[in-house]
Amino acid sequence: MLNILAISGSLRAASTNSALVSALARNAPTGCRVAVHDGLARLPIFNPDDEGDRTPDEASRLIEAVSRADGVIVSCPEYAHGVPGGLKNALDWLVSRDAAIDKPAMLAHASPRSLYARAALAEIMRTMSFALYERAALEIPLLGKKPPEVEMILGDEANQRAMREAVQGFMDFIRASAASSS
Ligand SMILES: Cc1cc2nc3c(=O)[nH]c(=O)nc-3n(C[C@H](O)[C@H](O)[C@H](O)COP(=O)(O)O)c2cc1C
Repeated sequence: MLNILAISGSLRAASTNSALVSALARNAPTGCRVAVHDGLARLPIFNPDDEGDRTPDEASRLIEAVSRADGVIVSCPEYAHGVPGGLKNALDWLVSRDAAIDKPAMLAHASPRSLYARAALAEIMRTMSFALYERAALEIPLLGKKPPEVEMILGDEANQRAMREAVQGFMDFIRASAASSS
C-alpha cells in the first residue's frame, strides 16, 4: 500500500484546488491511500533561526507527514504570477531537512491558466531535490466554478478516470524511483 500526501496551496473555504485534492483522496486507485494535509494556515512564517530544537509543532507535523509519505501531490493557485505565500512558506520549512530529498512529487492543476506558478513550483521543488513526476499532468479545469458545479465536474465519470489514471501513473513512478534507489 502506497501512502500519498496531498497538499492544496489555497486557504479559501471554497477552494477549487482543495476540492481537487479531496477528490483525488476519494478516488485513490487500489493499492494507494491519499491523505490531505491541511495545516498550511497554522504554520508560522519560516525563520531559519527556528529550526532544530525550536521547530514549531505545526512545522514538525508537516515535516513528519512528508517524511512518512511515499509521494506528495500538490495543487495550487497562481497569485500575481507566483506561488501562493502559504505554500512557499510550507516548502521553506522543508528545505534544510531530508524530507524532500528524492521524495516523488506530482503537480495537479485546477486551473487551465497559472502557467507561471506551475513553472515556478516545479523549479522550487526540483531545487529542493523532490523527484518530480513530469511525464503526465493532471488538469481538471475548475477555475471560477462555485462548489456545487465543482463537485459535479469532479464527480464526472471521465474526470474520475483521469484522476485515477494520473495517480496510477504517479504510483508507477514512485515504485520505479524506489527500485532504482535500492
Ligand atoms: C490575489 C489573486 C491573484 C491572482 N493572480 C492570478 C494570476 O496571476 N494568474 C492566474 O492565472 N490566476 C490568478 N488568480 C486566480 C486564481 O489563481 C484562481 O482563481 C485559482 O483557481 C483559485 O484557486 P482556489 O479556488 O483553489 O482558491 C488570482 C487570484 C487572486 C485571489
